Amino acid sequence: MSFKRSIGKLLYHAIGIHLPESFSRINLGSRGFRQFCAHLILDHCGKWVNIEKGVHFGEGLSIGNGSGIGAYSNVPSDVTIGENVMIGQELLVYTQNHAMARTDIPMRQQGMTDVNPVAIGNDVWIGSRVTILPGVHIGDGAVIGAGAVVTKDIPPYEIWGGNPARKLKSRKND
Ligand SMILES: CC(C)(COP(=O)(O)OP(=O)(O)OC[C@H]1O[C@@H](n2cnc3c(N)ncnc32)[C@H](O)[C@@H]1OP(=O)(O)O)[C@@H](O)C(=O)NCCC(=O)NCCS
Repeated sequence: MSFKRSIGKLLYHAIGIHLPESFSRINLGSRGFRQFCAHLILDHCGKWVNIEKGVHFGEGLSIGNGSGIGAYSNVPSDVTIGENVMIGQELLVYTQNHAMARTDIPMRQQGMTDVNPVAIGNDVWIGSRVTILPGVHIGDGAVIGAGAVVTKDIPPYEIWGGNPARKLKSRKND
């Protein structure tokens, strides 16, 4: 691990992650501080990025200009977030599952499946408490309703919600 990344992680986990949410009246410069840490840690971190309080993210995450991650979200490495993406509180993204092919030994001993990256396009709005499962691609301009569990790719400019998430309507026609 590079020295820059180590310093970034130290600052983020010791201080940044605990600072108030950026819209708090007394925010102690939390938005700028967390953004500074993200620039040190991440492979790619655009400008005007807003990582909210309590977010856990992997160092391989890529996040584009003007995008934000809502408070207490969990976004691992091998996730790409485009530009101008809005994400509500408590997003969970998974890029792997527990392996479960064998029944003669506990699943706990079977390790993990291969990583299946997740991609989120540009100008996407993800509501609160959404779960995105491995390998899902979210198209540009898509909207995901609060509480959705996304198991399939979402085409551009469609609004999806529910568990499992299904198309509710399109932003283009409705
Ligand atoms: C998805 C969303 C944007 C749709 O808003 P809308 O365009 O006003 O949609 P409507 O309220 O007209 O609902 C349209 C249909 O989708 C359903 N629906 C709406 N939101 C849903 C959701 N989150 N999950 C499942 N179904 C949903 C409605 O029940 C309705 O179904 P019906 O046609 O069978 O009656 C909105 O409901 C939502 O979930 N917003 C996220 C809010 C949030 O998390 N904010 C945090 C800040 S980022």
